[in-house]
Amino acid sequence: MVSTHPTGVQHAGSQYLPQRRSTNAQNNVNFSPNQELLPSTAKVNSQDILEIGGCDVTTLVQQFGSPLYILDEETLRLACQQYRDTFKQYYQGESQVLYASKAWNCLAVCAIAASEGLGIDIVSGGELYTALSAGVSPDKLYLHGNNKSREELTFAIQSNVTIVVDNWQELRTLVEIAEKASPIRIMLRLTPGIECHTHEYIRTGHLDSKFGFDPNDLDEVFTFVSQQPGLNCVGLHAHIGSQIFERQPHRDLAAVMVQWLQKAANYGLAITELNVGGGLGIRYTESDDPPSIEEWVKAICEVIQEACAAQNLPLPKLLCEPGRSLIATACVTAYTIGSSKVVPEIRTYVSVDGGMSDNPRPITYQSVYRSVVANKMSAPCTETVTIAGKHCESGDIIIKNAQLPQTESGDILVIMGTGAYNYSMASNYNRLPRPAAVVVANGEANLILRRETYQDLIRQDCLPERLNVQK
Ligand code: LLP
Repeated sequence: MVSTHPTGVQHAGSQYLPQRRSTNAQNNVNFSPNQELLPSTAKVNSQDILEIGGCDVTTLVQQFGSPLYILDEETLRLACQQYRDTFKQYYQGESQVLYASKAWNCLAVCAIAASEGLGIDIVSGGELYTALSAGVSPDKLYLHGNNKSREELTFAIQSNVTIVVDNWQELRTLVEIAEKASPIRIMLRLTPGIECHTHEYIRTGHLDSKFGFDPNDLDEVFTFVSQQPGLNCVGLHAHIGSQIFERQPHRDLAAVMVQWLQKAANYGLAITELNVGGGLGIRYTESDDPPSIEEWVKAICEVIQEACAAQNLPLPKLLCEPGRSLIATACVTAYTIGSSKVVPEIRTYVSVDGGMSDNPRPITYQSVYRSVVANKMSAPCTETVTIAGKHCESGDIIIKNAQLPQTESGDILVIMGTGAYNYSMASNYNRLPRPAAVVVANGEANLILRRETYQDLIRQDCLPERLNVQK
């Protein structure tokens, strides 16, 4: 069966190669990783095989096993540099980009982000522990969460991490802890009433969200905080959603936050930091059209600067905390194709050796991905197939109606854009060991996450003596 691409043109996998490839941030004003499908270093070699970071993807799979997360260091660094440098370019005050590490929290990723000057947004004791173990400086760590435990708060305070306070109960707990260890550096998270769905947004007076203080309570919150010698409130925070393609919601957010800042001054609070959160979208398919990192940053800087000038406020230190747009495009997942099944006149299933355990996004959010066959990059896409995972669950489908060349068992299938919320949301469902991950750069590949073994799978299991059937 000959099929056509959604654009109506029969294509080969090589069509997904980045259009504007180059090697450093300064030469890359037009290249925004979040607007590409494949990493910046992706190319097709003379054997028609996909290369990333100078490494042949099929060789990586032979060496490190399958499935395999392949992280392109250059693309991740480029995204970090673009966020960092465009803030420097467009914002006259101080700025700090944080990496929202919930997207992918592990030692190597934290270390790369930190080496580019980024701070890290963490949401649990576990993410904090990982970031500290990666050598990230505590003064660049910000702890979020709507239900931080007392242990997590204590751990963060002892580590000198800034706490982004979410609610009244947390404020009171911090006041108690502060009696022993003061002053605690905090920011306040507010829910601005701007809600983003993927391609549209709404503004409401009250927002139904489990996160953050209601801005209608701002007077009360500021009054309380201003009376607490143990709390050093340095800033305000808000985050309006994820995978956002419009710039207006963040413009509105920036304007609202400057109003909050103005209000804080009435309470004698020296609030000098504003964190506008993350949320910039990425291109998962050809039809996704997110703004570039530069366009997004510029829009926010303009609004904050104009609003502060209009209200005669000094410029705050400006923070943001992107996750997906920093790392999603930098990583692909390579799988090995196994069995296939033709259901006549309905569809052809092609199965791979992973699935919802290493990428839970399709089954959780009906997320759409694109794929290529790494060893057949120039072959025309003549088949429409459904790529299925190997889990015992009919919904374990990675891509419906993927356009691929004719495939056979042993081919290496690559899913693009898997750097964000894949490994970090991975599970051991059906007791599949989680895949390995490598970072690639200049033809070199280094392991950053070891593949789990069967022994790892039972590492936390306990078999009480009386249940041991071997005795
Ligand atoms: N800051 C806060 C407070 C957040 O809650 C998030 C994401 C971010 C920053 C980073 O947002 P980003 O730049 O990555 O859009 N698991 C979902 C995404 C959940 C996002 C949660 N919060 C997914 O796979 O699409």
